[in-house]
Amino acid sequence: MNKAKRRTVIAGNWKMNKTPSETTALINEMKPLVKDADCDVLLCVPFVDIAAATKAAEGSNIKIGAENVHFKESGAYTGEVSANMLKECNVEYVVIGHSERRQYFGETDQTVNLRTLAALNGGLKAIVCVGETLEQRELGYTETLLKYQTKMALTNVTAEQLKNVIVAYEPVWAIGTGVTATAEQADEGNGFVRAAIAEVYGKDVAETVTVQYGGSMNAKNADELLSKVNVDGGLIGGASLKAEDFSIIVKAASK
Ligand code: 13P
Repeated sequence: MNKAKRRTVIAGNWKMNKTPSETTALINEMKPLVKDADCDVLLCVPFVDIAAATKAAEGSNIKIGAENVHFKESGAYTGEVSANMLKECNVEYVVIGHSERRQYFGETDQTVNLRTLAALNGGLKAIVCVGETLEQRELGYTETLLKYQTKMALTNVTAEQLKNVIVAYEPVWAIGTGVTATAEQADEGNGFVRAAIAEVYGKDVAETVTVQYGGSMNAKNADELLSKVNVDGGLIGGASLKAEDFSIIVKAASK
């Protein structure tokens, strides 16, 4: 396996945190700390923070993403936002299928797939999240589940479109719990995702896809997690809300 073929991407997922003014302040604090990164640096922020985030990040190496996208271009979908709306706001990436969306907002493998297709067709890059619950892990279904979720999310995504897809392996039991997967578990989970991609698109294509790990990645454990051959970056929740912690993770990924 050759990690050098893949771009390392460190992405913050702010979830439902930070107002627009807090966004400006945090990005201004982060900019000098991450300016020398030798990896892609990305912050996925709440919809209402996008304008402040893109303005604050202008001229820096920080890219801005959203946390969801609807699968239709427009219409009677109260509370939803479409790909072309995000695109016009200079959004480059969008998180899709986060376990919190699946758990609290009825997101299914099918809607995750539709949102992924809408993002890609709308010119956005997709960060597609997959991950098993503790119960699924304990029952021994991790590999089956990760492969199934990955293939379902990528249904009808072409090999060309796959160049704009990142898959994030986020074990549900490790999100926001302070319990991190061991580096071996992260590497194995990411490997299952890559194997699923290989089964559909072939091994050579799978070797080029960035697969992130997410779930309590922080300034202390990032080095070890990111040293694994299948871990091509991180999707960071809590630690992306602190400039210094986030920058330490970015530095670990830049080695
Ligand atoms: P934490 O880093 O807070 O565990 O969150 C991970 C996550 O869900 C990122 O999308």
